[in-house]
Amino acid sequence: MAFTAFSRPAIVAFAALVITGCTVEGLGESERVVAPILTTEQAFDEFTYARPTEARVTHVALDLALDFEAMKVEGTATLDIQAAEGATEIVLDSNGLVIGGVTDGNGNALDFTIGEADAENAEKGEPITVQLGELTGPELQQIVITYASGPEAAALQWLDPEQTEGGEHPFVFSQGQAILNRTWIPTQDSPGIRQTWEARITAPEPLTVVMSGISRGDPETVDGAEGLRVFEFVMDNSVPPYLVAIAAGNIEFAELGPRSGVWAEPEMIAAAEQELGDTEELIDAGIDLFGEYRWGRYDMIILPPAFPYGGMENPVMTFLTPTFIAGDRSNNGLVAHELAHSWSGNLTTYASWRDGWLNEGVTSYIENRITEAVYGELRAEQEYTLSYASLVEAVEEAGTDAPTTAMRTPAGTSPFDTVGPAIYDKGTVFLRTVENIVGREEFDAWLTQWFDSHAFQPVTSEMLLADMRANLIGDNAELEEALMLDEWVYGTGIPANALAPDPEAFADADAAAAAYAADGTLPDTDSWGEWTAASQRRFLETLPDELGDEQLAALNDTLGLSESGNNEVLFLWLEAAMRNSYDPAVPQAEEFLARVGRNKFVAPLFRAMWGTGAWGQPKASALYATTRGGYHSYTRGNVDEIVGYQAQGE
Ligand code: BES
Ligand code: ZN
Repeated sequence: MAFTAFSRPAIVAFAALVITGCTVEGLGESERVVAPILTTEQAFDEFTYARPTEARVTHVALDLALDFEAMKVEGTATLDIQAAEGATEIVLDSNGLVIGGVTDGNGNALDFTIGEADAENAEKGEPITVQLGELTGPELQQIVITYASGPEAAALQWLDPEQTEGGEHPFVFSQGQAILNRTWIPTQDSPGIRQTWEARITAPEPLTVVMSGISRGDPETVDGAEGLRVFEFVMDNSVPPYLVAIAAGNIEFAELGPRSGVWAEPEMIAAAEQELGDTEELIDAGIDLFGEYRWGRYDMIILPPAFPYGGMENPVMTFLTPTFIAGDRSNNGLVAHELAHSWSGNLTTYASWRDGWLNEGVTSYIENRITEAVYGELRAEQEYTLSYASLVEAVEEAGTDAPTTAMRTPAGTSPFDTVGPAIYDKGTVFLRTVENIVGREEFDAWLTQWFDSHAFQPVTSEMLLADMRANLIGDNAELEEALMLDEWVYGTGIPANALAPDPEAFADADAAAAAYAADGTLPDTDSWGEWTAASQRRFLETLPDELGDEQLAALNDTLGLSESGNNEVLFLWLEAAMRNSYDPAVPQAEEFLARVGRNKFVAPLFRAMWGTGAWGQPKASALYATTRGGYHSYTRGNVDEIVGYQAQGE
């Protein structure tokens, strides 16, 4: 496809319309703003088949039934589209969707073809090309696709009752980011093609359905179909399609405050409510720092432990792993992070996966600012120190010149690989550095302005840098030089002006680590118990790589590591134990890996076992044979690589 770099204005004119009086039933008089499509080179997304400047989707209306027996969703997607003058077809993304037919809004059949999958890039799926016939011109038109998700739909994880806390009912959740929603929704699945949406979902009783949209009220029972209920949702803000999300299970709701609440299985709800007791304060902190919260509600759902991520920022319904619950709110940086995406990522969104840092790096920075406001300076500085250390380690490992250490990632990088320290941690350190140089007040005002002026729009690295230059730096040449903006975003390694963390932040853990390294002295049990979870992590992260059985036994006896209620701490213990072939920890590691599917824990534990060779490889293979089926496709893909798993007959 010919893709030319336009000079400004790079916004396609026909897209900047306000569409009123929608034809979709139920939306009444609501107004939907159609977001622009960027056409600059940086905005180009190589992981979509869509050609949005010719014809684009503006709104998706889903009417789907959840089929737990067949493990599929089935129904229709009605797409509102806009086609440029002369366009004859619209191209959508699919990955394994089973298409029954396509019609226009009046039920007249439209011709369509399902193209070949890109042989070089299987995760991209295949294009669905629909012939528009009469449906051209700037007027909104509709196409209706009758379809079902395919058997391997990677976005959807269908859980057996045994994988839930209650053990009695099945559960399903979706994970759209990065390019997985094309396995259950036929639309243009690219972060730069924002869409509003609504959904009508039929599910069997007693399951409750939640989505990343506002609920339209209590579910209704279906006439003539006993045991089925219909749930309706709407998202009137345009969002990147990866943010459409669904979960259904035996869940209940606990209110946390006027804007917020949490869904969880009944067995988890009390612990969830307790852990999330600071939510309203976190939201207020975000608003104080970076402006209006534009999504209405902020609810969360605690998913079963098979969820492959710590959290996912689905609008109005953050998805969370239960493994963050520690009893003392010490892992609530995760909540601050997903909430922070309400500004960076969900409001302003990277147009291309190559600008991962615009979502994740900016969010990690805001996460830290919210943490500081709610949990204090020490905790925030400690978490910043952990980020900085992870960046330094990643750069040491990859090499200062490694292209993977640039914040704007190289072309061809898988959208699933835009999650490393070069994006999260380098992004945080970059923005902290800028904040430190220009001053907090100026910086906050600038960032608030950035969100305001690009609300509900796609963005690129060069747009952010241009905005910084226009609104923060002006003609101050000295400041321009001091900031080293281009080196941060496009360069590799860590620029010379990086703001180092305060060495005092981990005075306790670092002194203890030095004492341990010098003569094996361990921190005493009482003071360890008083440390922050971050200090405990710091100590464990600075332990020598190689530890003998006696050392591991002493560490565990004194510090009670295997009994830690904080899964981040427990994970570091298990990783150290597996890395050093420590037999007594094997049963606990096996139990953990059989229960938890969070990639951040699972992949490194398998890597640690595998890395020991003869000790760990047979154990890892045997264990993986039993746990693999319970993992999400993302975690599975990563562990498959670590253990060289060859699927039988796949
Ligand atoms: N949006 C990410 C998860 C993601 C990124 C999924 C890229 C697919 C592709 C989410 O907000 C995230 O960053 N989660 C982290 C949270 C942590 C950094 C606090 C996680 O799951 O560990
Ligand atoms: Zn994130």
